[in-house]
Amino acid sequence: MSKRILITGAFGQLGDAVVLELQPHFKLCATGRVLPDDELKLCEHRVMDVTDKKEVADIVAGFSPDVVVHLACMTDVDGCEKDRQKAWNANVTGTENIINALRGSEAKIVFISTDYVFDGTAGPYSEEESPAPVNYYGKTKLAAENAIRGGAQPWVILRTNVLYGNSLRSSASFVKWVVDSLMEGEQIKVVDDQRNNPTWTAGLAEAIKLSIVMDLQEILNYGGAEFMSRFEFSQRIASLFDLNEKMIHPIKTADLNQLAPRPLNSGLSTLKIEELLGLRTYGVDYCLRKVREGIVA
Ligand SMILES: NC(=O)c1ccc[n+]([C@@H]2O[C@H](COP(=O)([O-])OP(=O)(O)OC[C@H]3O[C@@H](n4cnc5c(N)ncnc54)[C@H](OP(=O)(O)O)[C@@H]3O)[C@@H](O)[C@H]2O)c1
Repeated sequence: MSKRILITGAFGQLGDAVVLELQPHFKLCATGRVLPDDELKLCEHRVMDVTDKKEVADIVAGFSPDVVVHLACMTDVDGCEKDRQKAWNANVTGTENIINALRGSEAKIVFISTDYVFDGTAGPYSEEESPAPVNYYGKTKLAAENAIRGGAQPWVILRTNVLYGNSLRSSASFVKWVVDSLMEGEQIKVVDDQRNNPTWTAGLAEAIKLSIVMDLQEILNYGGAEFMSRFEFSQRIASLFDLNEKMIHPIKTADLNQLAPRPLNSGLSTLKIEELLGLRTYGVDYCLRKVREGIVA
């Protein structure tokens, strides 16, 4: 019988790709704070706010998952800095509610974390390096990792960075912002001092599937095959979508005056996951072409 997988935050950017990747192989229950307007034909779906302890307990007891893929998160980095209580509640208490709801079962938690657990002084980072988050979002993700590692459920933690994909649901899609702005003839400024390896959501969804199948208990990095600055990434996007690269201007992170500090020299080394799961990572042009064609996998 196929495994029963409950997904939290299933109606976000990554959730879309995860549902598509897992749906042919497992019995899914996709959950989110608010059901989206579009039709959800692929699998069972439920409203579940991870901060609502009773709702989480009821939904988990009702579905009885073998695995929870935990994506739900307050992802607005400056928003987390501004409203720390809300961020802690969503990202840490929400995670504890899931751990508590699973207690007594053997269900595994697959948690998606971030390179923002590192300070960005010495990237790309391997799994062995010591976390030292520089902003509150990173602190909540690290606290959630620690809650999972300290709990009784088996777990896998997959750290990733700068996600992009075909989802129409995310308000925070960098690719969509670049494409829409350039198509509308707007000049845009993009930071050239934040480096990492942008990650295609469909590739990460494949890593999530394999980490369920292989039944490991590890911290694993998953990221794209190429490291670049955000400015270079935006130029690659412009080029792939036949838009005018000259409309993109480099700026420094400090000039943005953002509330939350950002790790600058970051990104994630993927050698461990490539070796353990036999996975490949993907170059940016290949993934952007798939995004442009609307192809998910
Ligand atoms: N995006 C990146 O570049 C990136 C990089 C590294 C790691 N990650 C991790 O990847 C995961 C997925 O991120 P994403 O890019 O798909 O972001 P996203 O599009 O913002 O998705 C996050 C989802 O979580 C939901 N959510 C927020 N609070 C919730 C709550 N209390 N209960 C239930 N659902 C809640 C959001 O719903 P609402 O829309 O209703 O708030 C949203 O659907 C997150 O754990 C994030 O930390 C993302």
